Amino acid sequence: MSTISMKHVFVCIANRPPTAGSSCGARDSAGVIEKLQFALMEGGLMEKVRVNGCTCLGPCEDGVNLVVYPDAVFYAKVTPEDVPEIVEKHLAGGLPVERLVYTGH
Ligand code: FES
Repeated sequence: MSTISMKHVFVCIANRPPTAGSSCGARDSAGVIEKLQFALMEGGLMEKVRVNGCTCLGPCEDGVNLVVYPDAVFYAKVTPEDVPEIVEKHLAGGLPVERLVYTGH
């Protein structure tokens, strides 16, 4: 039996009603996904990392939020500009980007 070493990145794309407060969709989660896909393609990681949009992950005020499995690393306040560092250090190198890891404040 072979071991699969694929990672999955789930990026919150939820758009809550404006009256409900902030949401990841309103904070450019689409831009984060676009940048992720571009960086993975550039890095030759398309076969090793999958990116999916998902519904609300919980801490909406701290978005854009995303989680990397199977590592169970939760990132918050991610912008498209943060994506190259996440791809290089974590998805390619295996080390979480500590400054973006969600700590619950
Ligand atoms: S809207 Fe993204 S965590 Fe709730």
